[in-house]
Amino acid sequence: MKTIKAIAIILAAVVLSAFSWKTPVYKDASQPVEKRVQDLLKRMTLQEKIMQMNQYIIGRNDNSNNRGKVVAKIPPEIGSLIYFYEDPETRNDIQKRAMEQTRLGIPVLLGFDVIHGYRTVFPVPLAQAASFNPGMTSKLNAIAASEAYSAGIDWTFAPMIDVCRDPRWGRIVECYGEDPYTNSVFCEAAVKGFQGKNLSDKGTIAACLKHFVCYGASEAGRDYVYTEVSDQTMWDTYLPPYEAGVKAGAQTVMSAFNNINGIPASANRHTLTDILKNGWGFDGLVVSDWDAIAQIKLNGMAQDAAECAELSVNAGVDLDMKDNAYAEHLEQLVKEGKVSIKRIDDAVARILRVKFRLGLFDDPYRENKPQEEVFMQQESLELSEKAAAESMVLLKNDSSVLPLRKGAHIALIGPLAEAKKDLLGSWRGKGRADETETLAAAMQREFDGRVTVVEGCSFKGEDRSGFAEALQAAQSADAVVLALGEKSGWSGENASRANIELPEIQQELLREVKKAGKPMVVVLFNGRPLVLTQDEPMADAILEAWFPGTRGAAAVAGTLSGRYNPSGKLPVTFPAHQGQIPIYYNKRLPARRGNQGYYFDVTVKPLYPFGHGLSYSNFESSPVTLSADKLSKGGKITASVTVKNTSAVDGAQTVLWFISDPSCRRVTRPEKELRHFEKKIIPAGASETFTFEIQPERDLSFPDSQGTRFIEAGKFIVSACGTQAEFTLE
Ligand code: BGC
Repeated sequence: MKTIKAIAIILAAVVLSAFSWKTPVYKDASQPVEKRVQDLLKRMTLQEKIMQMNQYIIGRNDNSNNRGKVVAKIPPEIGSLIYFYEDPETRNDIQKRAMEQTRLGIPVLLGFDVIHGYRTVFPVPLAQAASFNPGMTSKLNAIAASEAYSAGIDWTFAPMIDVCRDPRWGRIVECYGEDPYTNSVFCEAAVKGFQGKNLSDKGTIAACLKHFVCYGASEAGRDYVYTEVSDQTMWDTYLPPYEAGVKAGAQTVMSAFNNINGIPASANRHTLTDILKNGWGFDGLVVSDWDAIAQIKLNGMAQDAAECAELSVNAGVDLDMKDNAYAEHLEQLVKEGKVSIKRIDDAVARILRVKFRLGLFDDPYRENKPQEEVFMQQESLELSEKAAAESMVLLKNDSSVLPLRKGAHIALIGPLAEAKKDLLGSWRGKGRADETETLAAAMQREFDGRVTVVEGCSFKGEDRSGFAEALQAAQSADAVVLALGEKSGWSGENASRANIELPEIQQELLREVKKAGKPMVVVLFNGRPLVLTQDEPMADAILEAWFPGTRGAAAVAGTLSGRYNPSGKLPVTFPAHQGQIPIYYNKRLPARRGNQGYYFDVTVKPLYPFGHGLSYSNFESSPVTLSADKLSKGGKITASVTVKNTSAVDGAQTVLWFISDPSCRRVTRPEKELRHFEKKIIPAGASETFTFEIQPERDLSFPDSQGTRFIEAGKFIVSACGTQAEFTLE
């Protein structure tokens, strides 16, 4: 018996040693990721390491802002690719080459911009924020991830969490609005949706927090320009969503285009290394934005591509998106001692870590399933409609003109009545116009064919030849729905507008149709707050539909008919005048009150404030009450409000909880700061109590200009639903 045991042990040892001789540690899926990373790193030559630090592109790039050198022959050792194909076939070829034709067999990381859906397109992120339902964003991103995964993608360049207070900036559409807390909460939800529970699970993809950092502060809302941001504002406004994303486990971060206080974001050691990597312990990879490394020269900091590469890699950018600057210059920079091998190893370890975590070494291939099995699934389409309905904001509804009366004859007028692509918004992934229903079609279905559709005018221009027909249609209808707004390309990258009113021709159309004297409903499709001061008095109701996605039209039609009860609230302020910009709710208090310190020629107030949004239900809320009016730093108190639905219609209400610290000796704080929100469905006639458990460390603290969070004892105010209560932190 003893002999048999001994033989068994010897045999096991032989098998094990043969295995470890044959299978290097990095190829052994049972080994911990960090061990595999270090093992592989030890085996790599400098050239192999540098190839890992490059991302090229493959396929046709539809982003008109991003043109440039396409590498004709992609080396099999390449670290990453932006993958523009829509099926995994090419992916599998790429991985086969990488696994079988290279010395070490390192899989390639394939990225793509999956921003608000892949083939099934969901409402744009700004619209998703209006839902104040982050759980929904997680679900949408999980679907987007699974579609993208099936198409061969490992990694999305999302979420975009650049707090933005200038609606002229086109990229406001990609973020979650003007508030750091809303961006933080949605960032966490977005990351969890994309990455799932376990990154190596099928159907999950790595997330990318972008664009690090302060890009949303772009001067005067123009793209790619200078950003002047104090350390204090960087810490209290622009960094919190990124910190939340890192805590949520985001695997990657993208360095931005903008120049922060004189140091370009992609050459910024302070933000990328001191704060992100050393400060927060981020151990994933940093990729540069498209051409952001070359732009260091354009920003006036470097004289050639080699210097750009040196500055960027030393600042902490690990992966070069499409610039070729690392491929062409890193080796020489290492030889010259300008870039240390330690830094190269750190960058490569980060890239490999993400690949290991994604499970790419263990299974780099994707099953090539028929498109109809993976894209546009029934459940995804239903969610696309539901998400759009939840994102819509009813800005105005005089005399309860909405929902429209059953059996009414409707005139649907405007450039967006028959639009398809423009309902999808910018960064629409692989969303297709021909798979998008028009508002006209959705309304015919919703209103049993009693809709007369007239374009009236185009998005912009001078052609008024359709006005007469529009007026006639309005005269013969019981109610008018005007579908107005922006083309999808007017939002997004490099799509800043100096004038954010509706184009003059659309405003004229509105005035013309108003002559019919019928109830007027304006439905807006757009990617930013608009200045609607001229138009607002003409409309009895205004429904902000944003860019609602593949099934957005059905959601609009269903909201107009009352099948959906709107519940969105503005995640961003709508100015009353362009000259008010920047205008946002969480400003710091001025030195004088009343009308002093404002423009004397325009109103003080915005047209619609942050948090505004009506419902078909009527809600009444009780004053805020507190479980105690004193608490210690380690304690908790609970604030509550009870909201009653006094109408006959079930509806959802979101309660936004703000904290104010009216006298902070360390640093003045915003007038009020959103610190918690909750959305609940309240059946007709019923009441719901909403609570906010205030925890000082989490809810009352604030960062100083060095990022150190402090809590100062004293008086605080908690407010919700227009009422407030005071308490003291001891
Ligand atoms: C954008 C990024 C995007 C990248 C890749 C850049 O122009 O700024 O947000 O992820 O292109 O498409």
